[in-house]
Amino acid sequence: MGKTQNIYDNETFFEGYKKIRQDKQSANILEEMPAIYSLAPDLHGKDVIDLGCGYAEHCAHFKKMGAKEVVGVDISEKMLEVAKRENPGIKFVRADISDLSFVHKKYDVVFSSLTLHYIKDFNSLAKQVFAILKKGGEFIFSQEHPFSTAPIDGPKWIKNEKGETVAYNLSDYALSGKRKVNWLVEDVIMYHRTFSEVINALIDAGFKVERVLEPLPSKAAIKKEPKLKRRYHKPNFLIIKAVKK
Ligand SMILES: C[S@@+](CC[C@H](N)C(=O)[O-])C[C@H]1O[C@@H](n2cnc3c(N)ncnc32)[C@H](O)[C@@H]1O
Repeated sequence: MGKTQNIYDNETFFEGYKKIRQDKQSANILEEMPAIYSLAPDLHGKDVIDLGCGYAEHCAHFKKMGAKEVVGVDISEKMLEVAKRENPGIKFVRADISDLSFVHKKYDVVFSSLTLHYIKDFNSLAKQVFAILKKGGEFIFSQEHPFSTAPIDGPKWIKNEKGETVAYNLSDYALSGKRKVNWLVEDVIMYHRTFSEVINALIDAGFKVERVLEPLPSKAAIKKEPKLKRRYHKPNFLIIKAVKK
């Protein structure tokens, strides 16, 4: 698996991440999932591959939506262990998605949720995804928002004297590259790319960018949890649908 970091197999990280994902008010559930699913085509009879599938929650959803074949790929043995246990009808491959040479067929949909900010060379990945898509196929993915991945010392919120978040202190945005962040454990490696670098990688690979989303929590969710209002200063996620015309 080369030099790619496999942080989800770190016991402390794995347990911490599990807790976050068990929270019914998580940003994944409130913000990311409704938005990314809104971009999915009619999946009946379609072949789908999920890059960085984790527990395979999305794979299971695609099967339910009528997909013919769903393949989940992940670098983490621990994540795949859960995925396999909970989804006996789905095929899983343990691999580093930086190199897709293990994929020998073409798919209607290449999906990836919150994984691509772990990948060093997005230009290369975009080209490889283009190659494994059928004509008319769709690459639908989410990643940490570039404003989140930008600060070298980690995101910083600005609060007023009442302790309310009033702004986001964006720094280092134009300095794309490796970031080491403390999230659940120390030194989690991610890669920051500017918005234009992400879009241009897709264009250079041959894609037509069809939709870009920066989802926000619903008004009802904000009413229930006013802290979520800070997303208006900085969205959590960037979600893109690109098509192989
Ligand atoms: C934030 S989790 C998201 C999991 C799943 N997509 C979801 O949304 O529930 C990121 C996943 O990407 C996987 N991952 C990170 N880097 C990877 C790589 N280079 N190749 C394959 N999987 C990777 C991790 O092991 C982890 O399961």
